[in-house]
Amino acid sequence: MVKAVRIGAPATVDSLTVDTLADPGDPGPGEIRVRLAASSLNFHDFAVVAGMIPAAAGRIPMSDGAGTVEAAGEGVTDYRVGDSVVSLFFPDWDDGAAPSMQALTNVPGDSTDGYAREVVVKPQHWFTRAPTGYSAAEAATLTCAGLTAWRALFVDGTTRPGSTVMIQGSGGVSVFALQFAKAAGARVIATSSSDAKLEKLKALGADELINYKDVPAWGAKAMELTGGRGVDMVVEIGGAGTLDQSMVATRVGGHVALIGVLAGIAGPVQTALLMSKNLRVQGLTVGSRAQQLAMIAAIEANGIRPVISDHFPLEQLGDAFRHQIANAHFGKIVLDV
Ligand SMILES: NC(=O)c1ccc[n+]([C@@H]2O[C@H](COP(=O)([O-])OP(=O)(O)OC[C@H]3O[C@@H](n4cnc5c(N)ncnc54)[C@H](OP(=O)(O)O)[C@@H]3O)[C@@H](O)[C@H]2O)c1
Repeated sequence: MVKAVRIGAPATVDSLTVDTLADPGDPGPGEIRVRLAASSLNFHDFAVVAGMIPAAAGRIPMSDGAGTVEAAGEGVTDYRVGDSVVSLFFPDWDDGAAPSMQALTNVPGDSTDGYAREVVVKPQHWFTRAPTGYSAAEAATLTCAGLTAWRALFVDGTTRPGSTVMIQGSGGVSVFALQFAKAAGARVIATSSSDAKLEKLKALGADELINYKDVPAWGAKAMELTGGRGVDMVVEIGGAGTLDQSMVATRVGGHVALIGVLAGIAGPVQTALLMSKNLRVQGLTVGSRAQQLAMIAAIEANGIRPVISDHFPLEQLGDAFRHQIANAHFGKIVLDV
């Protein structure tokens, strides 16, 4: 038997239950059996367990999973027993500029069972290798938050030495974006609702700090900090409630990577500003297998380690989400399986 967490009905953080499942057994042709050691929390996972994203009753949540290959089925070429692996947010998106509709609707922990469990048997293409030297906890932070930040900066974006990148808050995506941008030689303007968290962002390399509660017109402040030019790109995790300030902050011809919904899912857009500044506001959903492998190579080349502020055991997933929603974390929260 293996332990797993399931979503209750109705789906709320309080209705999560710990269950025991039949052992999934040996892998079939092309499959691997993975002993999971960690997952990590994303706002997306909260939205699923809290019923904001509809999921089947009894669904096993969590998109991120990392662990060790325990057995490899016939024809498996990518892995050997003992290899460290990390899951893919879109197992069916191999490469290319955008996922297919089919890939978009096959997301572990959402449209299919995820990784809040001890063991899975899955096709080998559901995982990639983990960065060399990473613990499972570290690897488990990459699937959603790490890859989203990577794609925003380097796939959809053109971040390079000397670019100016703006990040919002100190959650999973934003802290990865800070680390990746600094590794690429960019200048980073960081915002947070907390002065204490701003100091932590500074310690990670942030060049300019803005408390977005104290300075609601933080877009204008970013313009000022860039000598009136504006930032090259914004890693936009707020959405409707922050997009206007992001567009104010961005230089003419710059890029807003529209990632999140923390400040609302719909709202009016200053279309004239978008047009007159020749902005590119691009929505994105995580990334492909090829992008995950490119990110892992960059992580290894630059010695980047994820920032994990908290660990919770599998059985306390509800407490972990309560901690996340209280904004008590910095960077990532890991679920130890
Ligand atoms: N499109 C995609 O592929 C994709 C992938 C990953 C995440 N996302 C989305 O991106 C967002 C962030 O995800 P996450 O997992 O990184 O979340 P998270 O770790 O829970 O981040 C929460 C942090 O965001 C900051 N924040 C909250 N509201 C804010 C606001 N109005 N303005 C600026 N900062 C604000 C706060 O930082 P401070 O405490 O420092 O203020 C908060 O601690 C979510 O909406 C999530 O759904 C989308």
